[in-house]
Amino acid sequence: MFVTGTIIGRQETTPGYVTLAVSAPEIARAASPGQFVMVRGWEGFDPLLPRPFSFHRLHPARGSFHLLVRIAGKATSLMAAWSPGHSVSLLGPLGTGFTLPRKGASAAIVTRGAGVAPMVALAERLKARGVGVKAFMSARSRTSMVCYETMCRLAQSVEVTSDDGSMGPPGLVTDFLERHIGTQCVDVVYVCGSRRLARAVSRLQKVHGFSAFVSLEEHMACGVGACKGCVVGVAEAGSGLTYRRVCREGPLFPLEILCLE
Ligand SMILES: Cc1cc2nc3c(=O)[nH]c(=O)nc-3n(C[C@H](O)[C@H](O)[C@H](O)COP(=O)(O)OP(=O)(O)OC[C@H]3O[C@@H](n4cnc5c(N)ncnc54)[C@H](O)[C@@H]3O)c2cc1C
Ligand code: FES
Repeated sequence: MFVTGTIIGRQETTPGYVTLAVSAPEIARAASPGQFVMVRGWEGFDPLLPRPFSFHRLHPARGSFHLLVRIAGKATSLMAAWSPGHSVSLLGPLGTGFTLPRKGASAAIVTRGAGVAPMVALAERLKARGVGVKAFMSARSRTSMVCYETMCRLAQSVEVTSDDGSMGPPGLVTDFLERHIGTQCVDVVYVCGSRRLARAVSRLQKVHGFSAFVSLEEHMACGVGACKGCVVGVAEAGSGLTYRRVCREGPLFPLEILCLE
């Protein structure tokens, strides 16, 4: 649905990131973790297209949600300057939500950088459902390890790695995941942040056989399945290579069907 929302809060989470609280009751009540919203709130035609953002936190009772925005280019720089009272055009909720495991199951969340954005809403939902969550976070450095404290509140444990060693040792966060899987049962793994990360989890999945879902962040134009600009290759059992639209059939996909090369 198309809705005009209002910015009701703004917080500079960490350098290069801003968290925006948005009031849009119709969308907040209909959305679930893993879905996203197309956002536009600037005058003129530059940037021309709206931009996709995951629901970072959802507050259906309050009629609002949070977006975690990494300042990447023109649109996100403009968004970072929005203050309470600013009006935004929204289209959503779009895409599919996370598939949640049964109560009492054990989940792992694996993120890199801004990939943590949808995982906070997911971790909140999993915790409320009685699913144990272990988080595995990686980033370039301490300053891009966004939402570490939040994940510490939501998860039973949080392991971190950073490329420069400023927060946790440098290395592959999936090494931690592999060690964990070696000693404890994990029913489902959720991944968001980079193709490299998804490929690394895919290698572990082939050995350990857990179910896994990846949240993809492709460039998007329409966000509703019309332009075919966001397709990814998938190979489902028994069929050859086909294509799926990330905005429509995604952004979540079972890891084992994705062509990540
Ligand atoms: C389903 C979905 C959910 C997303 N959720 C979030 C979120 O919660 N928080 C967040 O900060 N970002 C999220 N993104 C990415 C966000 O949409 C882009 O960073 C944003 O569109 C960049 O716009 P811009 O005009 O500032 O930068 P642009 O000038 O358009 O791009 C700046 C840089 O970012 C890269 N970039 C642009 N779009 C994407 C993209 N879709 N994926 C990866 N790199 C991109 C460009 O290649 C370029 O290097 C999401 C993307 C998708 C598809
Ligand atoms: S963005 Fe147009 S089809 Fe996905």
